[in-house]
Amino acid sequence: MIVKALEFTSFRNLKDNKIFPCEGVNVIYGDNAQGKTNLLEAIWMFSGGHSFRGAKESELISFESKKSEISMDFFSQGREQTATIKFFGNKKEVKINEVVKPSSAYLSQCFSAVVFSPEHLSLVKNGPSLRRKFIDGAICQQDVKFAVLLSKYNRTVFQRNALLKEIYKHPELEETICIWDDSLIILGARIIFKRLEYLKKLEFSAQEFHKGISGGKEELQIEYISSAGVEFNDTEQQIAEKLRDNFERCRREDIKLSCTNCGPHRDDLDFLINGIKAKTFASQGQQRSIILSLKLAEAQMLWQFFDEPPVVLLDDVLSEIDKSRQEFLLSNTRGCQTFITGCEVPEYENEDTKIFIIEKGEVK
Ligand SMILES: Nc1ncnc2c1ncn2[C@@H]1O[C@H](COP(=O)(O)OP(=O)(O)OP(=O)(O)O)[C@@H](O)[C@H]1O
Ligand SMILES: [Mg+2]
Repeated sequence: MIVKALEFTSFRNLKDNKIFPCEGVNVIYGDNAQGKTNLLEAIWMFSGGHSFRGAKESELISFESKKSEISMDFFSQGREQTATIKFFGNKKEVKINEVVKPSSAYLSQCFSAVVFSPEHLSLVKNGPSLRRKFIDGAICQQDVKFAVLLSKYNRTVFQRNALLKEIYKHPELEETICIWDDSLIILGARIIFKRLEYLKKLEFSAQEFHKGISGGKEELQIEYISSAGVEFNDTEQQIAEKLRDNFERCRREDIKLSCTNCGPHRDDLDFLINGIKAKTFASQGQQRSIILSLKLAEAQMLWQFFDEPPVVLLDDVLSEIDKSRQEFLLSNTRGCQTFITGCEVPEYENEDTKIFIIEKGEVK
């Protein structure tokens, strides 16, 4: 994937402009709060239509405007393509090659990117939602249907929780809960199965990168922590059975707490280094190595899936990692068009580099 041109109108604090990145490394530098991350966010939007900072559509529109538009010319799947995203209120309209698409998820079928931002540095130690977001986001980039599956599942959990609150007041409603359970079991088993399938490949690839960063001294393992006792090699049918058993087992507790305590929305990942839990014992450096390995593995899997390299977006991370990890990251993303933000121009050698300076939203 190569971003040939990016045009933005009333997007965040960016002054309306059209930029033409190079095919190698694009460095975007400037002081704090000038618009560096906003520019990466604009590129990232084309990978699936969602902000990596979790922003709503309305937050992407410049404070001074009521609508915004970003447009990208890119090379992918052996041809030049164009995509446009228009934002108005909390809505957006997506066009790919001049055709309006029913959902922004379609963007991920023709453009892929990997983003690495300081938020990811807390992936190992922070709460489970960030780790779920990481794996689900990575799968969505390869599988448009997974995003639909997730949103159906989350809506059903929401509806079941609403019913649980009602049951507390009207116990006779309890017999209707199995309708929601049946849906959650089918959707939940599919989600968990897809996650496990992805994790097996991710672990294999991340292990290789981690070996490289640690000089062969450390072995990384990824474990799926299931709220329903699902194991790594379970079939979708076995997962569904375990979910059913656990929904029944947790029902009294669910009614008491008015929430659904079991299912993929409660699952987590554990990272182990040489068999020891990273969440509890890993040093800062080891945590960074795990995250680098995961991100590089994510990029490698996208590369294999699309048979072309994804665009790599590195938001302020070089300043957070030491020199040897910086070199490891840059040498392993060679071949990918890369965008790097920072307050200083990083020191490294690459024959194909373009530097953008950004000042109060103006990209030069
Ligand atoms: N919708 C918006 N309209 C106008 N300005 C916005 C909007 N959203 C964010 N901003 C502003 O854009 C500015 C730049 O944000 P950005 O996160 O891109 O900074 P940055 O250059 O990455 O800084 P840092 O080096 O601190 O990470 C911020 O001051 C922010 O308040
Ligand atoms: Mg920033």
